[in-house]
Amino acid sequence: MRKAVVIVLAAGAGERLGRDVPKALLPLGGRPILARAVSAAIGCPAVGLVVVTAPPGSEDLAHAIVEPLGAHAVVTGGATRHASVSAALAAVPDEAPIVVCHDAARALASPRLFGAVLDALPGWDGVVPVLAVSDTVKRVRGETVVRTEPREELVLAQTPQAFTAAALRDAHARARGSGMEFTDDAAALEWAGYRVRVVPGEVGNLKITTAEDLERAERMLVEATRA
Ligand code: CTP
Ligand code: MG
Repeated sequence: MRKAVVIVLAAGAGERLGRDVPKALLPLGGRPILARAVSAAIGCPAVGLVVVTAPPGSEDLAHAIVEPLGAHAVVTGGATRHASVSAALAAVPDEAPIVVCHDAARALASPRLFGAVLDALPGWDGVVPVLAVSDTVKRVRGETVVRTEPREELVLAQTPQAFTAAALRDAHARARGSGMEFTDDAAALEWAGYRVRVVPGEVGNLKITTAEDLERAERMLVEATRA
């Protein structure tokens, strides 16, 4: 079996975290967030190449972090996540059959989760790890509750997400052509009519968005080393 290429998206500024340094370059438990995300990908035996999108101006620093881990290429990210995926896809070899997209901001995803999305891909165009919604979800307009949504059909999407390279390239190109912006890659495939399935995500695979999230991730790492 030919191995999968992983795109690690790390080019965001981390505005909601509100630090001077781009989010993916900040330390988490003594290691850059980016290093943790790339290590998890490379820790999966089904993963071959890793392509990283770096924040513009921080390419050298990103390279210094990931090159010793075995990442294959560092490319300059774009102004949006979508543009960063496009930049990374240009660096993915044409013959690669499978591409996984992973947000560096999910630095605590395990190598096992990369394996799980890849194992589930045959027969589908994309695979997304998800968690069930445990809270009651309400649709609101301003301060008015419009209705309560049936939560049985709602899930929370994570990365890493696995795709056939052809579907990912096509969905992204069409989305770009139509001026569509999506917050994850599975959404671009869904919009383009591809078949995307779910697999169980990981509770510990939190997305680091705010300073509170970073503190929570630090605590989770401490707890994991105590366990
Ligand atoms: N990302 C990227 N290129 C962009 C924007 C985002 O590669 N132009 C990456 C981020 O580095 C992150 C992932 O996509 O790992 C998810 O984005 P998000 O969590 O929104 O990170 P930031 O865009 O950095 O954060 P913020 O929106 O608060 O600025
Ligand atoms: Mg963002």
